Amino acid sequence: MHTTALIDEIRAQVRTWRARGETVAFVPTMGNLHAGHIHLVNEARKRADHVVASIFVNPMQFGKNEDLDAYPRTLADDQAALTAAGCELLFTPTPEIIYPKGLDAQTFVEVPGISDVLCGASRPGHFRGVATIVLKLFNIVQPDVALFGRKDFQQLLVIRTMVEDLSLPLEIVGIDTVREASGLAMSSRNGYLTADEKQRAAALKRALDQLASDIQAGMAVTDACNKANDSLRQAGFTPDYMEVRSARTLAEATDADRELVVLAAAQLGKARLIDNLCFNR
Ligand code: PAF
Repeated sequence: MHTTALIDEIRAQVRTWRARGETVAFVPTMGNLHAGHIHLVNEARKRADHVVASIFVNPMQFGKNEDLDAYPRTLADDQAALTAAGCELLFTPTPEIIYPKGLDAQTFVEVPGISDVLCGASRPGHFRGVATIVLKLFNIVQPDVALFGRKDFQQLLVIRTMVEDLSLPLEIVGIDTVREASGLAMSSRNGYLTADEKQRAAALKRALDQLASDIQAGMAVTDACNKANDSLRQAGFTPDYMEVRSARTLAEATDADRELVVLAAAQLGKARLIDNLCFNR
């Protein structure tokens, strides 16, 4: 696998592949790769002739008091894992390459509405940062298909909306969340958990499962959410949100909606964990 921080090198390699009529799949990441990322690379290999990944801890998507500096950077391990998974090209730009004018002078992409709720309400500017970097990366790599984990359900919908609104010529594929045996969704931020917290963190997925089955059994949404939040508090979490929404639009669920998603964010120790579960009513 070739690793480069240079935009021109990425473009030259992709141009060579394209000239031969070959296709490119792209897996953007912030590094500190786990089994969920490698699953994305494996799925990417099934969908195109070549796989390109990126590792960039994007400062634009972190709030001022968030974990930008603490975010784990493990490039050598990530390179080994990507190579073993069959990724051929890795883009590792610096913030100066991506944002040469600095963050404040940078053109940005705002996906209205869907960026302002849930994680967007708790983390103002987060999805502007995500949409901006993802569009930049798409313009640099010019993939035929890009793959994202469904754990970041809202992020996936923001990116799908941007791609549709801006008529970008690529396919977005959402890939199912990879979980630990306990049910805990794989996340780089799980590394912030102590051994004890990691055991208790499994309560998040249990709360989502319980909430979905309570709603399917006819419990009112507010009561089911309150019950789920109580179970999280008992496990030591500080819940941020627990909401049932339309799985298609993330609009507040109405009685007419059949395809629903329950989304949760909660703090446990130093880690802000998010997870979600799609279900039918
Ligand atoms: O999901 C992530 O790791 C990041 O939000 C992404 C999509 C790589 C953009 O920085």
